[in-house]
Amino acid sequence: MNFTRKRSLRFLIPLILLVGLVIFLSLRWKVWFSNLPEVSYTPSDTIDRLTLTPGQDICHDVTVSWRAGSEPAKSWVVYTSDSMPEIHLPAMASRVESRGGVDVFYSAHLKGLDNQREYKIQVYTDGCSNTDSLTIAFPHPDSTLRLMYLGDLQDIDLAEAKKKLDSISRYYLSTDLYLQVGDLIERPMNSYWDLVYRSVGETLMKRRFVATPGNHEVIKGFRKKIDPRWKAQFNYPLNGPAGQEGLSYYIDHPHCRIVSLNSNHLDRPLELYHQLSWLDDVLGSASQPFLIVMMHHSVKPVRGTRSHPIMYSLVRPILERHKVDLVLAGHDHAYARTTHPDKDAYRSTTPVYLISSFSGKCYENGFSPIFDRLGSGTAFYSLIELTDRSLDFSTYTIDQQLTDHFRLLRPDKAEGQGRVPSRFEELGLDLPEYLLFDQFAGNEKGRKKRAAYQEALKKRLSNKH
Ligand SMILES: [Fe+2]
Ligand SMILES: [Fe+2]
Repeated sequence: MNFTRKRSLRFLIPLILLVGLVIFLSLRWKVWFSNLPEVSYTPSDTIDRLTLTPGQDICHDVTVSWRAGSEPAKSWVVYTSDSMPEIHLPAMASRVESRGGVDVFYSAHLKGLDNQREYKIQVYTDGCSNTDSLTIAFPHPDSTLRLMYLGDLQDIDLAEAKKKLDSISRYYLSTDLYLQVGDLIERPMNSYWDLVYRSVGETLMKRRFVATPGNHEVIKGFRKKIDPRWKAQFNYPLNGPAGQEGLSYYIDHPHCRIVSLNSNHLDRPLELYHQLSWLDDVLGSASQPFLIVMMHHSVKPVRGTRSHPIMYSLVRPILERHKVDLVLAGHDHAYARTTHPDKDAYRSTTPVYLISSFSGKCYENGFSPIFDRLGSGTAFYSLIELTDRSLDFSTYTIDQQLTDHFRLLRPDKAEGQGRVPSRFEELGLDLPEYLLFDQFAGNEKGRKKRAAYQEALKKRLSNKH
Protein backbone atom coordinates (compact mmCIF):
# COMPACT_ATOMS: atom_id res chain seq x y z
CA MET A 1 0.00 0.00 0.00
CA ASN A 2 2.74 2.39 1.12
CA PHE A 3 4.76 1.44 -1.91
CA THR A 4 1.85 2.27 -4.23
CA ARG A 5 1.28 5.67 -2.54
CA LYS A 6 4.99 6.54 -2.84
CA ARG A 7 4.88 5.63 -6.54
CA SER A 8 1.79 7.80 -7.11
CA LEU A 9 3.43 10.75 -5.32
CA ARG A 10 6.52 10.39 -7.48
CA PHE A 11 4.34 11.04 -10.54
CA LEU A 12 1.92 13.46 -8.92
CA ILE A 13 4.46 16.04 -7.71
CA PRO A 14 6.15 16.55 -11.14
CA LEU A 15 2.69 16.64 -12.73
CA ILE A 16 1.55 19.42 -10.33
CA LEU A 17 4.81 21.33 -10.98
CA LEU A 18 4.36 20.93 -14.73
CA VAL A 19 0.74 22.14 -14.64
CA GLY A 20 1.83 25.09 -12.44
CA LEU A 21 4.58 25.96 -14.93
CA VAL A 22 2.16 25.78 -17.88
CA ILE A 23 -0.35 28.07 -16.07
CA PHE A 24 2.45 30.51 -15.11
CA LEU A 25 3.84 30.60 -18.67
CA SER A 26 0.40 31.07 -20.24
CA LEU A 27 -0.23 34.02 -17.89
CA ARG A 28 3.15 35.60 -18.75
CA TRP A 29 3.19 34.60 -22.43
CA LYS A 30 1.77 37.86 -23.73
CA VAL A 31 4.07 39.98 -21.56
CA TRP A 32 7.27 38.08 -22.40
CA PHE A 33 6.82 36.74 -25.92
CA SER A 34 3.95 38.38 -27.81
CA ASN A 35 4.40 41.30 -30.23
CA LEU A 36 1.65 43.24 -31.93
CA PRO A 37 2.04 42.86 -35.72
CA GLU A 38 3.62 45.83 -37.52
CA VAL A 39 1.81 47.30 -40.53
CA SER A 40 4.00 47.16 -43.64
CA TYR A 41 5.45 50.45 -44.89
CA THR A 42 7.86 51.88 -47.44
CA PRO A 43 10.02 54.84 -46.43
CA SER A 44 9.80 57.80 -48.78
CA ASP A 45 12.71 59.10 -50.86
CA THR A 46 13.00 62.11 -48.59
CA ILE A 47 15.67 62.43 -45.97
CA ASP A 48 14.07 62.24 -42.53
CA ARG A 49 14.75 61.22 -38.91
CA LEU A 50 17.74 63.52 -38.70
CA THR A 51 19.40 62.89 -35.33
CA LEU A 52 22.42 64.30 -33.54
CA THR A 53 24.07 62.13 -30.91
CA PRO A 54 27.27 62.86 -29.00
CA GLY A 55 30.51 61.02 -29.60
CA GLN A 56 32.51 59.72 -26.65
CA ASP A 57 34.09 63.14 -26.19
CA ILE A 58 31.02 65.35 -26.09
CA CYS A 59 33.02 68.58 -26.35
CA HIS A 60 34.52 67.68 -29.75
CA ASP A 61 32.70 64.72 -31.35
CA VAL A 62 29.22 64.40 -32.76
CA THR A 63 27.41 61.87 -34.93
CA VAL A 64 24.74 62.76 -37.45
CA SER A 65 22.30 60.05 -38.56
CA TRP A 66 19.34 60.03 -40.95
CA ARG A 67 17.00 57.79 -42.90
CA ALA A 68 16.57 57.88 -46.68
CA GLY A 69 14.63 55.33 -48.73
CA SER A 70 15.00 51.55 -48.73
CA GLU A 71 18.00 51.03 -51.07
CA PRO A 72 21.53 52.12 -50.13
CA ALA A 73 22.79 55.11 -52.13
CA LYS A 74 25.83 57.35 -52.07
CA SER A 75 25.48 59.61 -49.02
CA TRP A 76 27.66 62.23 -47.39
CA VAL A 77 27.80 65.11 -44.96
CA VAL A 78 29.03 68.61 -45.68
CA TYR A 79 30.03 70.75 -42.75
CA THR A 80 31.58 74.15 -42.41
CA SER A 81 32.18 77.00 -40.00
CA ASP A 82 32.83 80.75 -40.61
CA SER A 83 35.83 81.09 -42.89
CA MET A 84 36.55 77.37 -42.88
CA PRO A 85 36.31 75.59 -46.28
CA GLU A 86 33.54 73.00 -46.61
CA ILE A 87 34.46 69.46 -45.54
CA HIS A 88 32.80 66.53 -47.31
CA LEU A 89 32.58 63.33 -45.29
CA PRO A 90 31.20 60.04 -46.69
CA ALA A 91 28.40 58.46 -44.64
CA MET A 92 28.02 54.80 -43.74
CA ALA A 93 24.82 53.03 -44.81
CA SER A 94 22.99 50.55 -42.67
CA ARG A 95 20.14 48.54 -44.22
CA VAL A 96 17.65 47.62 -41.52
CA GLU A 97 14.94 45.01 -41.99
CA SER A 98 12.17 45.46 -39.48
CA ARG A 99 8.92 43.48 -39.15
CA GLY A 100 7.15 46.06 -41.37
CA GLY A 101 9.64 47.08 -44.03
CA VAL A 102 13.18 47.97 -45.00
CA ASP A 103 14.84 51.28 -44.13
CA VAL A 104 18.28 52.52 -44.97
CA PHE A 105 19.89 54.66 -42.31
CA TYR A 106 23.11 56.64 -42.71
CA SER A 107 25.55 57.99 -40.19
CA ALA A 108 28.73 60.04 -40.16
CA HIS A 109 30.99 60.66 -37.17
CA LEU A 110 32.46 64.18 -36.99
CA LYS A 111 35.45 64.05 -34.70
CA GLY A 112 37.85 66.54 -33.14
CA LEU A 113 35.81 69.65 -33.94
CA ASP A 114 36.64 72.98 -32.36
CA ASN A 115 34.32 73.65 -29.42
CA GLN A 116 34.75 77.42 -29.80
CA ARG A 117 33.07 77.38 -33.22
CA GLU A 118 29.54 76.95 -34.47
CA TYR A 119 29.16 74.50 -37.39
CA LYS A 120 26.61 74.17 -40.15
CA ILE A 121 25.89 70.58 -41.19
CA GLN A 122 24.04 69.46 -44.32
CA VAL A 123 23.37 65.80 -45.16
CA TYR A 124 22.90 64.34 -48.67
CA THR A 125 21.73 61.04 -50.17
CA ASP A 126 21.76 60.56 -53.95
CA GLY A 127 18.25 60.51 -55.36
CA CYS A 128 16.63 61.78 -52.15
CA SER A 129 15.28 65.24 -51.50
CA ASN A 130 17.04 67.25 -48.88
CA THR A 131 16.36 68.67 -45.44
CA ASP A 132 17.29 71.96 -43.77
CA SER A 133 20.82 72.30 -42.51
CA LEU A 134 21.63 71.89 -38.82
CA THR A 135 23.59 74.32 -36.71
CA ILE A 136 25.60 72.89 -33.86
CA ALA A 137 27.79 74.27 -31.11
CA PHE A 138 29.64 72.15 -28.59
CA PRO A 139 29.52 72.32 -24.80
CA HIS A 140 32.64 74.07 -23.56
CA PRO A 141 34.87 71.99 -21.25
CA ASP A 142 35.09 74.79 -18.63
CA SER A 143 31.52 76.08 -18.75
CA THR A 144 28.42 74.92 -16.93
CA LEU A 145 27.01 71.80 -18.59
CA ARG A 146 23.20 71.86 -18.88
CA LEU A 147 21.32 68.58 -19.12
CA MET A 148 17.64 67.78 -19.25
CA TYR A 149 16.46 64.46 -17.86
CA LEU A 150 13.26 63.05 -19.37
CA GLY A 151 11.52 59.80 -18.42
CA ASP A 152 9.34 57.61 -20.63
CA LEU A 153 7.45 59.39 -23.45
CA GLN A 154 5.42 56.61 -25.13
CA ASP A 155 3.14 59.09 -26.84
CA ILE A 156 0.24 57.80 -28.89
CA ASP A 157 -1.23 61.18 -29.80
CA LEU A 158 0.77 63.69 -31.84
CA ALA A 159 -1.06 66.80 -30.58
CA GLU A 160 -0.61 65.76 -26.94
CA ALA A 161 3.07 65.05 -27.54
CA LYS A 162 3.61 68.49 -29.07
CA LYS A 163 1.74 70.18 -26.22
CA LYS A 164 4.12 68.65 -23.68
CA LEU A 165 7.06 70.03 -25.58
CA ASP A 166 5.78 73.58 -25.13
CA SER A 167 6.51 73.23 -21.42
CA ILE A 168 10.21 72.73 -22.09
CA SER A 169 10.57 74.95 -25.17
CA ARG A 170 12.21 77.79 -23.23
CA TYR A 171 15.16 75.46 -22.48
CA TYR A 172 15.78 74.34 -26.07
CA LEU A 173 18.71 76.61 -26.72
CA SER A 174 20.37 76.39 -23.31
CA THR A 175 20.27 72.58 -23.00
CA ASP A 176 23.48 70.84 -24.05
CA LEU A 177 22.20 67.25 -23.88
CA TYR A 178 18.79 65.63 -23.49
CA LEU A 179 18.99 62.47 -21.38
CA GLN A 180 16.06 60.16 -22.12
CA VAL A 181 15.82 56.96 -20.11
CA GLY A 182 13.91 54.68 -22.49
CA ASP A 183 10.35 53.90 -23.61
CA LEU A 184 10.60 56.72 -26.08
CA ILE A 185 8.01 54.95 -28.25
CA GLU A 186 4.87 52.99 -27.36
CA ARG A 187 5.72 49.98 -29.56
CA PRO A 188 8.65 49.08 -31.84
CA MET A 189 6.81 50.06 -35.03
CA ASN A 190 7.40 52.50 -37.84
CA SER A 191 4.20 54.43 -36.97
CA TYR A 192 5.44 55.15 -33.41
CA TRP A 193 8.91 56.11 -34.62
CA ASP A 194 7.19 58.50 -37.06
CA LEU A 195 5.14 59.95 -34.23
CA VAL A 196 8.14 60.56 -31.99
CA TYR A 197 10.16 62.18 -34.78
CA ARG A 198 7.21 64.36 -35.85
CA SER A 199 6.72 65.55 -32.26
CA VAL A 200 10.00 65.69 -30.35
CA GLY A 201 12.28 65.05 -33.35
CA GLU A 202 12.28 68.61 -34.53
CA THR A 203 13.69 69.82 -31.24
CA LEU A 204 15.24 67.11 -29.09
CA MET A 205 16.77 64.94 -31.80
CA LYS A 206 18.37 67.89 -33.52
CA ARG A 207 20.06 68.89 -30.27
CA ARG A 208 22.28 66.22 -28.82
CA PHE A 209 20.07 63.31 -27.81
CA VAL A 210 21.28 60.74 -25.27
CA ALA A 211 18.97 57.76 -24.83
CA THR A 212 19.05 54.38 -23.15
CA PRO A 213 16.75 51.61 -24.45
CA GLY A 214 13.47 50.81 -22.65
CA ASN A 215 11.36 47.67 -22.71
CA HIS A 216 8.90 49.27 -25.17
CA GLU A 217 11.73 49.36 -27.72
CA VAL A 218 12.21 45.58 -27.35
CA ILE A 219 11.01 42.98 -29.86
CA LYS A 220 9.87 40.25 -27.50
CA GLY A 221 10.67 36.55 -27.98
CA PHE A 222 12.88 33.75 -26.68
CA ARG A 223 15.81 35.85 -27.82
CA LYS A 224 14.44 39.34 -27.23
CA LYS A 225 16.23 42.19 -28.97
CA ILE A 226 16.09 45.95 -29.17
CA ASP A 227 14.26 47.15 -32.31
CA PRO A 228 17.09 47.36 -34.90
CA ARG A 229 15.97 50.90 -35.87
CA TRP A 230 16.99 52.11 -32.39
CA LYS A 231 20.71 51.54 -33.00
CA ALA A 232 20.56 52.72 -36.61
CA GLN A 233 18.98 56.03 -35.59
CA PHE A 234 20.98 56.57 -32.41
CA ASN A 235 24.61 55.96 -33.22
CA TYR A 236 26.25 56.07 -29.81
CA PRO A 237 29.93 55.26 -29.20
CA LEU A 238 30.69 51.56 -29.55
CA ASN A 239 32.49 51.42 -26.21
CA GLY A 240 30.02 49.06 -24.52
CA PRO A 241 30.34 45.44 -23.35
CA ALA A 242 30.43 42.53 -25.82
CA GLY A 243 27.08 42.20 -27.57
CA GLN A 244 25.72 45.48 -26.18
CA GLU A 245 27.82 47.98 -28.17
CA GLY A 246 25.89 51.18 -28.81
CA LEU A 247 23.17 50.19 -26.32
CA SER A 248 25.34 50.28 -23.20
CA TYR A 249 27.93 53.03 -23.69
CA TYR A 250 29.53 56.02 -22.02
CA ILE A 251 30.21 59.63 -22.99
CA ASP A 252 32.59 62.06 -21.36
CA HIS A 253 32.68 65.74 -20.44
CA PRO A 254 35.39 67.09 -18.08
CA HIS A 255 32.65 67.58 -15.41
CA CYS A 256 31.06 64.13 -15.69
CA ARG A 257 30.99 60.68 -17.21
CA ILE A 258 27.50 59.65 -18.36
CA VAL A 259 26.92 55.89 -18.62
CA SER A 260 23.97 54.20 -20.33
CA LEU A 261 23.31 50.64 -19.16
CA ASN A 262 20.90 48.61 -21.32
CA SER A 263 18.86 47.20 -18.44
CA ASN A 264 16.70 45.10 -20.80
CA HIS A 265 19.56 42.67 -21.27
CA LEU A 266 20.59 41.48 -17.84
CA ASP A 267 18.82 38.16 -17.64
CA ARG A 268 21.20 35.74 -19.40
CA PRO A 269 24.25 34.71 -17.35
CA LEU A 270 26.87 35.64 -19.96
CA GLU A 271 25.35 39.01 -20.91
CA LEU A 272 24.86 39.77 -17.21
CA TYR A 273 28.52 39.00 -16.55
CA HIS A 274 29.70 41.19 -19.49
CA GLN A 275 27.39 44.07 -18.58
CA LEU A 276 28.29 44.11 -14.86
CA SER A 277 32.05 43.79 -15.45
CA TRP A 278 31.89 46.60 -17.99
CA LEU A 279 29.86 48.85 -15.65
CA ASP A 280 32.37 48.23 -12.89
CA ASP A 281 35.27 49.08 -15.25
CA VAL A 282 33.84 52.27 -16.76
CA LEU A 283 32.84 53.65 -13.36
CA GLY A 284 36.19 52.67 -11.84
CA SER A 285 38.22 54.26 -14.64
CA ALA A 286 36.36 57.61 -14.69
CA SER A 287 38.39 60.58 -13.49
CA GLN A 288 35.60 63.18 -13.73
CA PRO A 289 34.15 64.75 -10.59
CA PHE A 290 30.60 63.52 -11.25
CA LEU A 291 29.24 60.14 -12.36
CA ILE A 292 25.77 59.76 -13.88
CA VAL A 293 24.24 56.40 -14.80
CA MET A 294 21.11 56.11 -16.96
CA MET A 295 19.11 52.89 -17.21
CA HIS A 296 15.47 52.21 -17.93
CA HIS A 297 14.72 49.98 -14.94
CA SER A 298 15.33 51.36 -11.47
CA VAL A 299 16.93 49.55 -8.56
CA LYS A 300 14.14 50.73 -6.24
CA PRO A 301 10.89 50.91 -8.26
CA VAL A 302 8.15 53.29 -7.18
CA ARG A 303 5.26 51.47 -8.87
CA GLY A 304 3.43 49.60 -6.07
CA THR A 305 4.16 45.93 -6.66
CA ARG A 306 7.28 46.14 -8.82
CA SER A 307 10.72 44.90 -7.88
CA HIS A 308 13.86 44.26 -9.92
CA PRO A 309 15.93 41.69 -7.97
CA ILE A 310 18.86 41.76 -10.45
CA MET A 311 19.00 45.54 -10.44
CA TYR A 312 18.76 45.67 -6.66
CA SER A 313 21.11 42.85 -5.72
CA LEU A 314 23.71 43.02 -8.53
CA VAL A 315 23.67 46.48 -10.14
CA ARG A 316 23.08 48.57 -7.00
CA PRO A 317 26.24 47.39 -5.16
CA ILE A 318 28.37 48.50 -8.16
CA LEU A 319 26.72 51.94 -8.21
CA GLU A 320 27.25 52.34 -4.48
CA ARG A 321 30.82 51.04 -4.51
CA HIS A 322 31.77 53.68 -7.08
CA LYS A 323 29.77 56.40 -5.34
CA VAL A 324 27.81 57.29 -8.45
CA ASP A 325 26.13 60.67 -8.07
CA LEU A 326 22.91 60.28 -10.03
CA VAL A 327 21.14 57.13 -11.16
CA LEU A 328 18.45 58.13 -13.67
CA ALA A 329 15.66 55.67 -14.46
CA GLY A 330 12.13 55.51 -15.83
CA HIS A 331 9.69 52.63 -16.45
CA ASP A 332 7.34 53.35 -13.51
CA HIS A 333 5.51 56.36 -15.05
CA ALA A 334 5.73 58.33 -11.81
CA TYR A 335 8.39 60.43 -10.06
CA ALA A 336 10.58 59.38 -7.11
CA ARG A 337 13.84 60.40 -5.53
CA THR A 338 15.73 58.26 -3.02
CA THR A 339 19.01 59.13 -1.40
CA HIS A 340 21.39 56.54 -0.07
CA PRO A 341 21.37 56.73 3.74
CA ASP A 342 24.78 57.27 5.35
CA LYS A 343 23.99 55.48 8.61
CA ASP A 344 27.26 56.52 10.31
CA ALA A 345 26.80 60.23 9.68
CA TYR A 346 22.96 60.26 10.04
CA ARG A 347 22.54 62.03 6.74
CA SER A 348 21.69 61.39 3.12
CA THR A 349 24.39 60.71 0.61
CA THR A 350 24.91 59.55 -2.95
CA PRO A 351 23.89 57.74 -5.07
CA VAL A 352 20.71 59.72 -5.55
CA TYR A 353 18.27 57.38 -7.30
CA LEU A 354 15.69 59.05 -9.54
CA ILE A 355 12.70 57.78 -11.45
CA SER A 356 10.85 60.10 -13.79
CA SER A 357 8.18 60.14 -16.47
CA PHE A 358 7.43 62.52 -19.34
CA SER A 359 4.41 60.48 -20.39
CA GLY A 360 0.68 61.05 -20.43
CA LYS A 361 0.37 57.44 -19.31
CA CYS A 362 0.57 57.37 -15.49
CA TYR A 363 0.86 54.51 -13.00
CA GLU A 364 -0.07 54.31 -9.35
CA ASN A 365 2.91 55.13 -7.14
CA GLY A 366 3.82 53.42 -3.89
CA PHE A 367 4.42 55.37 -0.67
CA SER A 368 7.44 53.63 0.84
CA PRO A 369 9.25 55.94 3.28
CA ILE A 370 12.51 55.30 1.34
CA PHE A 371 11.31 57.93 -1.17
CA ASP A 372 12.39 61.45 -0.16
CA ARG A 373 10.24 62.96 -2.92
CA LEU A 374 7.33 61.52 -4.87
CA GLY A 375 5.15 62.60 -7.77
CA SER A 376 2.47 60.99 -9.95
CA GLY A 377 -0.46 61.60 -12.28
CA THR A 378 1.39 64.10 -14.47
CA ALA A 379 4.58 64.48 -16.53
CA PHE A 380 7.87 65.77 -15.11
CA TYR A 381 11.18 67.08 -16.43
CA SER A 382 14.42 67.77 -14.59
CA LEU A 383 17.19 70.26 -15.22
CA ILE A 384 20.73 69.37 -14.20
CA GLU A 385 23.46 72.03 -14.12
CA LEU A 386 27.01 70.88 -13.58
CA THR A 387 30.30 72.56 -12.95
CA ASP A 388 33.43 70.73 -11.82
CA ARG A 389 32.41 71.31 -8.16
CA SER A 390 28.62 71.26 -8.01
CA LEU A 391 25.58 69.61 -9.51
CA ASP A 392 22.26 71.38 -9.17
CA PHE A 393 19.15 69.27 -9.79
CA SER A 394 15.58 70.60 -10.09
CA THR A 395 12.40 68.87 -11.19
CA TYR A 396 9.30 70.58 -12.54
CA THR A 397 5.85 69.31 -13.38
CA ILE A 398 4.63 69.85 -16.91
CA ASP A 399 2.78 72.92 -15.50
CA GLN A 400 6.12 74.50 -14.51
CA GLN A 401 5.75 73.80 -10.76
CA LEU A 402 9.07 73.17 -9.02
CA THR A 403 8.69 69.96 -7.02
CA ASP A 404 12.21 68.75 -6.25
CA HIS A 405 15.49 70.52 -5.71
CA PHE A 406 18.85 69.36 -4.35
CA ARG A 407 22.54 70.00 -4.84
CA LEU A 408 25.61 67.78 -4.81
CA LEU A 409 28.99 69.22 -3.94
CA ARG A 410 32.31 67.56 -4.64
CA PRO A 411 34.67 67.47 -1.66
CA ASP A 412 38.25 68.71 -2.02
CA LYS A 413 40.50 66.06 -3.48
CA ALA A 414 42.62 64.33 -0.86
CA GLU A 415 45.87 62.68 -1.90
CA GLY A 416 45.89 58.89 -1.88
CA GLN A 417 42.17 58.69 -1.14
CA GLY A 418 39.81 56.79 -3.42
CA ARG A 419 36.63 58.36 -4.76
CA VAL A 420 34.63 59.91 -1.92
CA PRO A 421 30.88 60.60 -2.16
CA SER A 422 29.57 64.04 -3.05
CA ARG A 423 27.96 66.07 -0.26
CA PHE A 424 24.17 66.09 -0.58
CA GLU A 425 22.25 69.30 0.14
CA GLU A 426 18.47 69.13 0.41
CA LEU A 427 16.89 72.26 -1.07
CA GLY A 428 13.35 71.04 -1.63
CA LEU A 429 11.93 70.29 1.81
CA ASP A 430 9.27 73.00 1.55
CA LEU A 431 8.27 72.20 -2.03
CA PRO A 432 4.90 70.56 -2.65
CA GLU A 433 4.71 66.99 -3.93
CA TYR A 434 2.31 66.49 -6.85
CA LEU A 435 0.59 63.17 -6.18
CA LEU A 436 -2.21 63.46 -8.70
CA PHE A 437 -2.69 59.84 -9.76
CA ASP A 438 -6.41 59.07 -10.03
CA GLN A 439 -6.86 56.50 -12.80
CA PHE A 440 -8.66 53.85 -10.75
CA ALA A 441 -11.29 51.57 -12.22
CA GLY A 442 -14.92 52.56 -11.62
CA ASN A 443 -15.83 49.19 -10.06
CA GLU A 444 -15.77 48.11 -6.42
CA LYS A 445 -12.12 47.01 -6.64
CA GLY A 446 -11.14 50.40 -8.12
CA ARG A 447 -13.03 52.29 -5.40
CA LYS A 448 -11.23 50.28 -2.72
CA LYS A 449 -7.88 50.99 -4.37
CA ARG A 450 -8.64 54.71 -4.56
CA ALA A 451 -9.58 54.77 -0.85
CA ALA A 452 -6.34 52.95 0.07
CA TYR A 453 -4.32 55.38 -2.09
CA GLN A 454 -5.96 58.43 -0.47
CA GLU A 455 -5.30 56.94 2.98
CA ALA A 456 -1.60 56.35 2.19
CA LEU A 457 -1.35 59.90 0.81
CA LYS A 458 -2.91 61.36 3.97
CA LYS A 459 -0.44 59.35 6.09
CA ARG A 460 2.51 60.62 4.04
CA LEU A 461 1.36 64.23 4.38
CA SER A 462 0.87 63.92 8.15
CA ASN A 463 4.33 62.33 8.55
CA LYS A 464 5.88 65.25 6.65
CA HIS A 465 4.39 67.88 8.96
FE1 LIG B 1 7.15 53.01 -19.93
FE1 LIG C 1 9.25 50.54 -19.38
